[in-house]
Amino acid sequence: MVGALSACGGEKEGDAGSGAKDDGKITMGFAQVGAESGWRTANTKSIQEAATAAGIDLKFSDAQQKQENQIKAIRSYIAQKVDIIAFSPVVESGWDTVLKEAKDAKIPVILTDRAVDSKDTSLYKTFIGSDFVLEGKKAGEWLVKEYQGKADTVNIVELQGTTGSAPANDRKSGFADVIKADPKFKVIASQTGDFTRAKGKEVMEAFLKANPKIDVLYAHNDDMGLGAIEAIEAAGKKPGVDIKIITVDAVKDGMTALAAGKINFIVECSPLLGPQLMDLAKKVIAGETIPQRVLTEETTFTPEQAKAALPDRKY
Ligand code: AHR
Repeated sequence: MVGALSACGGEKEGDAGSGAKDDGKITMGFAQVGAESGWRTANTKSIQEAATAAGIDLKFSDAQQKQENQIKAIRSYIAQKVDIIAFSPVVESGWDTVLKEAKDAKIPVILTDRAVDSKDTSLYKTFIGSDFVLEGKKAGEWLVKEYQGKADTVNIVELQGTTGSAPANDRKSGFADVIKADPKFKVIASQTGDFTRAKGKEVMEAFLKANPKIDVLYAHNDDMGLGAIEAIEAAGKKPGVDIKIITVDAVKDGMTALAAGKINFIVECSPLLGPQLMDLAKKVIAGETIPQRVLTEETTFTPEQAKAALPDRKY
C-alpha cells in the first residue's frame, strides 16, 4: 500500500491503492488525450520515461481524442485501485461525475497539460501545465508589432484546436483580447483543425478557396500550421511571405519550418511535463502540501532564434 495523509483534505488517500501493491511502489493510471500531434508524442514519451526513472508503475491509455474513452480509462483505473490517476482532459467540461467517483474511492487525481471547468477544485490535487491564454496573447502581441504603423486591413484566418479543449478556448481568447485593440485586424475565418496536420491542410484549402485575400494564418499548434503550409504551397502561394504564419508548440518540425522562413513566429508550449508530474505524484502520496497550480515556463521563437535552438531541440 502506498498511502498517506492527503495534502489538501487531511483524509487518508492510500486506502484505495491498498489492494494494488504491497511493495511500496506507486501505481499511476495515466489517461492520455491521443496521438494527434508532435507535441502529444513528445508529451507521452516524457511521461513514460519519467515514470520509469522515478520507479513509478505506469498504466497508460490513449483516448484517441474522445472524452468517453478517457472516462472509461479513468473508471478502469479506479476499479484497478491504482494509487494515483493523472490525465490530460481532451475537453474542459463534463468531468465532475468521474472525478467524484475517484474522490469517493480516495484516489487522488492530478490534471496535466489541460484544465477542467469543474467548480469543485477539491476534485483534483493540482493542475500542471501551460498558461494557454498567455500563449494566445503572445501570438497577438507579435502580430500587433509586425503590423505597427501600417493602416491597411489585415485579414486573419484561424485554425483552432480541438473544439471545447482548454488550449483551443484559451489560445483563441488570448489572441482575440490583444488584437481587438486595433480594428484593422479582422479574423475572417476561424475553424477547428483538431490539432492534426491532415485537418489543418483540409481546412486551409477551404479557407484559401473562400477567401482571395488572406494575410495571416494563426494556427493553435505547429501540426495544423504545417498542414496549412502544404495547402498554401499547393495554391501557388509562399508560406511566411504571401501569408504570414503564427503557430504554437515549437516542436522540431515546426521549428524547422520557422528556421526556413515558412512560419514567422512560434509561441512555445512545453510537452516535457513527465518529471514534474512524477515528483508531484510522489508528494501527493506522501501527504506533502503541493501548490494547486504548477505553471510551465515557456518562451517564443523567431526564425533566427529557431536556427540557434534547433541543434539542441529534444522534441
Ligand atoms: O494541450 C496541448 C496541445 O495539445 C498542443 O498544443 C497540441 O499540439 C496538442 O495536441
